[in-house]
Amino acid sequence: MLDELNLYEKSEAREFLAQLRAELDGFLEGMKSAEAISLKPHRNINSIVFLGVGGSGIVGDLLSDITAKRRDLPIICHKDYSLPPYLTKDVLAVAVSYSGNTAETLSAIVEAYDAGLPMFGITSGGLMEKICKKMGIPIVKVRDGLLPRMAVPHMLGAAVSVLTNAGLIKMSADELRNAVENARRAQESVEVHVGLESNIAKQVANQIYNKVTFIYSHGLLSSVGYRLKCQLNENAKMLAVNQCLPEILHNDIEGWSPALANCLAVVVLRHKDEPLAVKEALDRMEVFLGEQLGISVSRIVGDGNDDATKILSSMVICDYVSFYTAMMRGVNPIRVDRIKSMREGIISNSRLLEQVAKRFEVKP
Ligand code: F6R
Repeated sequence: MLDELNLYEKSEAREFLAQLRAELDGFLEGMKSAEAISLKPHRNINSIVFLGVGGSGIVGDLLSDITAKRRDLPIICHKDYSLPPYLTKDVLAVAVSYSGNTAETLSAIVEAYDAGLPMFGITSGGLMEKICKKMGIPIVKVRDGLLPRMAVPHMLGAAVSVLTNAGLIKMSADELRNAVENARRAQESVEVHVGLESNIAKQVANQIYNKVTFIYSHGLLSSVGYRLKCQLNENAKMLAVNQCLPEILHNDIEGWSPALANCLAVVVLRHKDEPLAVKEALDRMEVFLGEQLGISVSRIVGDGNDDATKILSSMVICDYVSFYTAMMRGVNPIRVDRIKSMREGIISNSRLLEQVAKRFEVKP
């Protein structure tokens, strides 16, 4: 089915594919949009807290993995209305909300402002742009009109760029551009014209489309695992579970049985430089689940010699997996009606946005 190219002619498939194909350029565009922002915190920063939820919240997770070996400070990804209570004033807050109208994120921004934390924001506009301007908080404005989850590379590129320019992470723009160029090869290998036989994203979609999917990964690729979980939820409208090694082998593993082969599948995210113990553990787990229990186990390998390439290339492949899975399930990958209705239906959230707008004297 996935090799029938007319499948991709439907308007929602075309629109989604256009955003999928623009992701890597989006990363570069995001870096560029952030060039003008120069942070001058008046204190020494000892950690970074990312504030944001959903697609926007994943920006911090991915950045944390990409830069794990390139920084001396911890990164906390906090996805809630309030700040974590243990924060000191030496924390840099990075607020991310694509729409700029997410109650949880705006509430956390106001708390960070009241706590006097240095901060910058990434958004396409909304109330967040207005209040940040009023508060004198620098913002990177990324292009609007995208699905928030498909603007992740834009926002990630912007965040990496600001933090690099501020000297808080050590990466060069050339290195990042190089990672993007390398990830393009991964993208080409999973494009719609590449047949199922040699297209890993189509193969994985074929395995998982009618099953609840467990995504298993370790360390470097754990944020990509979380991204895949969320993309399967939002694009393919299916449940998925994200877990990481070594924990899996200390709990999850006991829950599996052959009877689950009909309704559950596993996707394992791998790369060639796994520490030996992790490689052995993942190999053993794959054999146990696949060969001994008869569960469908698919493997996605993030190519590349450096962390940024491995993360970007596996993320792109996973995003295509979610798209092909949506096609297999016959669902619209663009619409997220339940998220929209939950967001709009929670009266406390609407009140919170009104209060924030009132306090900073801007129109909601
Ligand atoms: C929708 C999506 C959601 C949003 C989330 C938060 O495409 O990905 O997960 O990201 O509802 O909204 P924003 O990103 O606008 O703060």
